[in-house]
Amino acid sequence: MAPAQSNGDAEHHVKIPKIKFTKLFINGDFVDSVSGRTFETVDPSNGEVIARVAEGDKEDVDSAVKAAREAFDHGPWPRLSGAERQKIMLKLADLIEENVDEIAALDALEGGKLFTEGKYVDVPSAVRDFRYYAGTADKIHGTTLKMSRGLQGYTLLEPIGVVGHIIPWNFPAQMFSLKVAPALAAGCTMVVKPAEQTNLSALFYAHLSKLAGVPDGVLNIVTGFGRTAGAAISSHMDIDKVSFTGSTEVGRLIMQAAAASNLKPVSLELGGKSPFIVFDDVDVDQIAGLALAASTFNKGEICVAGSRVFVQEGIYDKFVEKVVEKAKAKVVGDPFDPNVQQGPQVSKTHYERVLSYIEHGKREGATLLAGGKPLDRKGYFIEPTIFADVTDDMIIAKEEIFGPVMCILKFKSVEEVIERANSSKYGLAAGIMTNNLNIANTVSRSVKSGVIWINCYFAFDSDAPFGGYKMSGFDREMGMESLSKYLQVKTIATPVYNSPWL
Ligand code: NAI
Ligand code: MG
Repeated sequence: MAPAQSNGDAEHHVKIPKIKFTKLFINGDFVDSVSGRTFETVDPSNGEVIARVAEGDKEDVDSAVKAAREAFDHGPWPRLSGAERQKIMLKLADLIEENVDEIAALDALEGGKLFTEGKYVDVPSAVRDFRYYAGTADKIHGTTLKMSRGLQGYTLLEPIGVVGHIIPWNFPAQMFSLKVAPALAAGCTMVVKPAEQTNLSALFYAHLSKLAGVPDGVLNIVTGFGRTAGAAISSHMDIDKVSFTGSTEVGRLIMQAAAASNLKPVSLELGGKSPFIVFDDVDVDQIAGLALAASTFNKGEICVAGSRVFVQEGIYDKFVEKVVEKAKAKVVGDPFDPNVQQGPQVSKTHYERVLSYIEHGKREGATLLAGGKPLDRKGYFIEPTIFADVTDDMIIAKEEIFGPVMCILKFKSVEEVIERANSSKYGLAAGIMTNNLNIANTVSRSVKSGVIWINCYFAFDSDAPFGGYKMSGFDREMGMESLSKYLQVKTIATPVYNSPWL
């Protein structure tokens, strides 16, 4: 059976927006890059150019940092009361909510993401993040210290300064909010570099931030490439912290650049090869559906993809059969078509990378049961792909594919699956599917990863810290943990009455 396809001519219920913002956003204005250069941003559903975007480089990062530094050292933002910052952030959240269709459409157009997913998942979660962190802005407390030797003290939590945010292309609207919102709440100023594949929602957010009353220089956006604009951020002497989400390879470069420049702290959220573990006692049909989503949601371009699916031997055959049936029924096509369930991969380069992993899987002897090839049409579409009988030593079981590819592995015992789940350089997320409480508790405490989802997957929330163990990175985003990464602790001590210091 051929996979279901949408022909792409379906009548869209969505109006594709006119592109309004393509320039850098520095000190409250949209400006050309110093060099005057621009680059193409491409629609991955047909390979056509959508717009040309200003190509920022080192000089542009310098001027954005200068604006952010001025806004931090002398501007109102860090000096406003938390309640005043909160008010502006809530206004921004409302504006994002009012413009949900436009933001979702920009991500769909540039990123090949489903419009409906942007509208109902990504952008609403960005709105929640802004509201969540707005709520923290007036609750940033230090502690009182009862010191010895006739001293008393307290801690102040101060914003860390000028932040560089380097964001990836897989969740442009959402990655923006989960980095920018806590930094704004903390009182930081910042320079954001969107991924070169997906620029437009970040520039649209910049426009909304101005309408909401975020002062000039607080939020600057420099579009451009990683090796130029991105590298200028991580090595900048006047950026106080870098927050990065992307590949492990670039995470390493960013740490090196930070170490070689001003020793700025970095937060890294990197790749994953997350285990999705299915025990014998589950409802096979239901969990097969969840497993398919875990591997292929957002066309598999998600760092927490549950791409190593371990299935216990008693239900293995039945599970494989169900999951294959569901994969073949998945509708792939135009991301603006509401009937479509999977859009194109983000770019030609990435599409070729995913296809080359699929070729590895075939060569390594995994059993290909669904998909395994591109769609026969324009654009970067790949069929939902299922490999069964995958073994731990195969490349497809070890490396992050970041595409709609599920690898199914068979296991016997709890001890064995814990061992195998942990035999990865990554440790981002894990799914545990069982109704047995003892198994759920044992496995969740034993698997080395930053997030564990029991009988659910992708259970993100603004209040739930998220981040990796091992080479999946360090530090947490979302939750109060993320706010703390944009603050630093100052300790203030004074002698008290009768103190030997006086
Ligand atoms: P990448 O890590 O190169 O790109 C992510 C961001 O880093 C982009 O904004 C890019 O411009 C920037 N960047 C690139 N080189 C840089 C440098 N030298 N200095 C500073 N910034 C730099 O990721 P890429 O090449 O787009 O994707 C490769 C693989 O990375 C994917 O196949 C996937 O496995 C992984 N990835 C993981 C993501 C996640 O959510 N954890 C997101 C994107 C990619
Ligand atoms: Mg790269």
